[in-house]
Amino acid sequence: MKRLGVNIDHVATLRNARGEKHPDPSNAAIKVVEMGADSVTIHLREDKRHINDIDTKKICNLKNILVNLELSMNENIIKKALKFKPSYICIVPENRKEITTEGGLNLNKNKKKLKSIIKRFKKAKIRTSLFVNPTLKDINISSELNIDCIEIHTGKISNLVKLKKNYINEFKRIKKCSIYAKKLNIEVHAGHGLDYKTTKILTKIKEIKEFNIGHYIIGESIFFGLAKVIKNFKKIIKS
Ligand code: PXP
Repeated sequence: MKRLGVNIDHVATLRNARGEKHPDPSNAAIKVVEMGADSVTIHLREDKRHINDIDTKKICNLKNILVNLELSMNENIIKKALKFKPSYICIVPENRKEITTEGGLNLNKNKKKLKSIIKRFKKAKIRTSLFVNPTLKDINISSELNIDCIEIHTGKISNLVKLKKNYINEFKRIKKCSIYAKKLNIEVHAGHGLDYKTTKILTKIKEIKEFNIGHYIIGESIFFGLAKVIKNFKKIIKS
């Protein structure tokens, strides 16, 4: 069974636009799970541009909600994550000027640091994941790091599909990496830039077990409502 994680960062973006309390991301976490999401994803960025510490604490304390916390390798954020105890973490690269996460981690450069971070989360019994580019080299390093899951960055295939360009080579790359990761006992997830069309294409890769989708779900919800959009994605993922 493939799972849907709903990223609710942009509920916080909307809240922050007014600097007040509405809409409350912790309420969004409860609602998306009621509407069928299997888990909730939030990214506690160092610049706190959307989700902040209070949101993270509140959301991680919600009962019966699986929380996937995205975080960088920043020690302050890691300490907070270990304190808030989400169900899952996904380590992502962070760059101050980026609008959103632009690619996978540089695993080769950060091997040693990642290894010790992963160990700390595993000791706390938190499921660990790395946001990676679809290359066999990165899958090998992920395996060396003893990671539970990888999330493949799907930004490139998403852009190709949106621009109606040929996405077959990127699809094959993602498929090859997914098959290889599964063989190495790593659970495969996919995320970034996904809409209905790209998600549908990627469901053909049976090794992908989880999709983490944010911007498109929140954007479509303005027109059709969260319940309808989550229902549509669940249907696509099941197909
Ligand atoms: N997965 C990861 C690791 C991410 O960093 C992001 C963006 O925060 C997403 C998934 C969701 O991407 P999008 O908002 O484009 O659906």
